[in-house]
This record gives sequence, structure tokens and C-alpha cells, in this order.
Amino acid sequence: MLAKQQAVIEWRDGQPYASAFQDVYFSTDNGLLETDYVFLQGNQLKNRWQSLNANTFTIAETGFGTGLNFLCAAKCWLETAPKEAKLHFVSVEKYPLGLLEITTALRLWPTLSALSEPFLAQYERLLKGTTSIRMFDNRIQLSLLIGDATEAYQSNDIKHTSPVVDAWFLDGFAPAKNPDIWQTALFKHMALLSNANTTFATFTSAGAVRRGLTDAGFAVIKQSGFGKKREMLRGYFAGAKDDS
Ligand SMILES: C[S@@+](CC[C@H](N)C(=O)[O-])C[C@H]1O[C@@H](n2cnc3c(N)ncnc32)[C@H](O)[C@@H]1O
Repeated sequence: MLAKQQAVIEWRDGQPYASAFQDVYFSTDNGLLETDYVFLQGNQLKNRWQSLNANTFTIAETGFGTGLNFLCAAKCWLETAPKEAKLHFVSVEKYPLGLLEITTALRLWPTLSALSEPFLAQYERLLKGTTSIRMFDNRIQLSLLIGDATEAYQSNDIKHTSPVVDAWFLDGFAPAKNPDIWQTALFKHMALLSNANTTFATFTSAGAVRRGLTDAGFAVIKQSGFGKKREMLRGYFAGAKDDS
């Protein structure tokens, strides 16, 4: 699908800010450390990848944004996972950043430049309708779906692209500022794409998210949040609830 609505970015102290949502793309304390703490450690990725038995591992994200989460996960994968295994990173973005904006945002992280430069060289193809690109000696596949997260994860296409998700990254601006992305339907479709080894992590601890995930069959754990955030949520799929 082609990008219909591009993100409108303001720069505050050199960091991207979404005026339409009155929210930041990542923690102003340190986006890189936030991604590591919330999403990578929250899903125990390093440990899981060091002892990976499977040939593939799938991460699915809501809200691709600047691609920071993707690049941090890619770096960790290349450093820890077995060489023959493949990471499939699926993300959905309703308001993609333009090439100039994403380039400016990613230049904030020089330690990622070996990964961000090859990614940026292919980014426009994703905006123009290519859904998947392969990078880093074919060890990583990025599928970027342009559109709404709930719609994408409930479509049949996703079941072909990625039948089982191993780890969910739930990112999408604060629930109070962007309730659209944190829908009960999203949590239910996450459950359909999860199995007994599936984990999730998110920066928020909002009650509606906690309840939605719990009702969908996820075991939800609250822990200390990153930076100014008091708490965050992480957990695993405990099995679909029996509605009968
Ligand atoms: C906090 S930012 C994500 C930051 C990102 N994960 C990163 O690594 O930079 C939230 C993202 O969710 C996107 N978004 C907001 N509503 C959405 C929706 N309904 N479906 C898909 N993406 C959405 C925003 O455009 C924004 O890029």
C-alpha cells in the first residue's frame, strides 16, 4: 500500500515530535536506552537469541516511526543470533516519516550508522509500495505495512506474511493521546498470531492496555518504566480465553 498521510514532524531540542499527537517518538531521556530496556529486555531477546533453536524469529511492532526499535533489534540480532537464522521484523505505520525526516532522526544515533545507512538507502522503496526488504547478508527481513495497525494485524495477508509472532513491540504514542491504535480488536488479533512462547512489551502501563491484553489471553506483568515513566508492561501469551 502507498503512503497516504505522511507524518508531520516538529523538532524539539533536535528530537522528533508529532504535533498532531502532542507526543514524542521516543524518550527524551535517551531513546536508544529506552528501546533496549523496554522492548529488547522486556522481551528477553538477547537470552532467547543466544539459545535460539529455530531458523526464524518474528517480531511484530505497532508504529514503525523512525525505525529506532527496528535498528536496535537488528543490531542485537546480528550480534547474538546464530548466523544461519533469519529475523523477520514486521511493522505497521499509518503516518510514515519522509526520507529527510527519518534520516535526520536516525543521525541522532551514530552507534547505529552501520545499520541505518543501508536501511535508509532502501527506505524510499518501502514508501513507494515495496512491502519487504532484505538486509545484512539476508539475515534480516523487514516488512513494513503502511496503514492502520489494527487493520493490518487483522488482515489475512499478515497470516501469510507471518503466521506466528515470537515477540510483540507495542509502540504507538501514549494511549491517552492516540487511543485509536490501542484497540481491543488489536489485542484479540495479536492473540491469534501468538503461541505459548510469544512475549510482548510496551512502554505504557495504561489500565485499558493492561485489561485489553489480559482479556485477550496475555499474562501481564507490571515493572518499573524507563526514565520518567513510573511503570511499563511486559508479559507472554498464556492461551486464548474460553468464551463459552
Ligand atoms: C512513539 S512512535 C513509534 C516510535 C518507533 N517505534 C521508533 O522506533 O521510532 C508511534 C508511531 O505510531 C504511529 N501510529 C500512530 N497511530 C497509528 C495507527 N493507528 N496505526 C499504525 N501506526 C500508527 C505513529 O505515526 C508513530 O510513528
